[in-house]
Amino acid sequence: MMTTPLWQYDEITHTGKDFASREVVAGYDARHRQFRDVDKENEAIINGLGLQPDHVVAEFGCGTGAFALQAARRCAKVYAVDISAAMLDYTGWKAETQGLDNIICCQGGFLTYVHEGKALDAAVTSLALHHLPDFWKQKALQRLNGMLAAEGRLFLHDVVFTEDNYEANIQVWIDKLSIEVGPDMAQDVARHVRCEDSTFTWIMEGLLVRAGFRIDRVDYTDGVLACYYCTKIAP
Ligand SMILES: C[S@@+](CC[C@H](N)C(=O)[O-])C[C@H]1O[C@@H](n2cnc3c(N)ncnc32)[C@H](O)[C@@H]1O
Repeated sequence: MMTTPLWQYDEITHTGKDFASREVVAGYDARHRQFRDVDKENEAIINGLGLQPDHVVAEFGCGTGAFALQAARRCAKVYAVDISAAMLDYTGWKAETQGLDNIICCQGGFLTYVHEGKALDAAVTSLALHHLPDFWKQKALQRLNGMLAAEGRLFLHDVVFTEDNYEANIQVWIDKLSIEVGPDMAQDVARHVRCEDSTFTWIMEGLLVRAGFRIDRVDYTDGVLACYYCTKIAP
């Protein structure tokens, strides 16, 4: 039997902001929709990954479940994984009210979720991997790779900084959100940069390749956001 090493990262104590109640979680949803076209983002992911009606998909750090709900209408089964019970409670409630019975809500994290069903056709994660330091991002990506079927796809979206001019890019980003959404959002993003573990493009690309992925497509936006479409390659 595997024992947990003393140096194992405790992902529960590093979940970022405390999403402790349904009201706080609902606030997250409303706020993000002020500066993200979430439905359009999710449609692009579904098409970019080529998801099919017989596919089994997992989303890690599903948050309020926007992607999981949209994917569940187009795939056989979606595992919605998050460390936060409040987020999962909200996702489960929305699935129920929308009559979707093919979403399985699982409380767990990148480092602790154990996948027991059929190997995944795709894994998706948006704005969540930055909760882990780089050493543990590597472990998380290796674990995701291990859950995927041969040639399974990975979509990763997160805050990732390009090397050039990153301090100026961060400031431009915060100022833009302050105007578009408000000063609270600017505070939130400043806290993110100060306290969480976003990394550089060259590190993220290296982590993906070393975890056994081919990077098929990468989009970098404003020097601060990245989307990677990847495929699991044979060892
Ligand atoms: C900023 S939200 C992103 C939610 C959603 N994916 C989106 O794009 O809006 C980050 C989510 O990651 C979850 N999270 C934090 N650490 C995690 C971990 N180690 N494993 C899985 N989920 C985690 C948080 O609970 C939260 O729901």
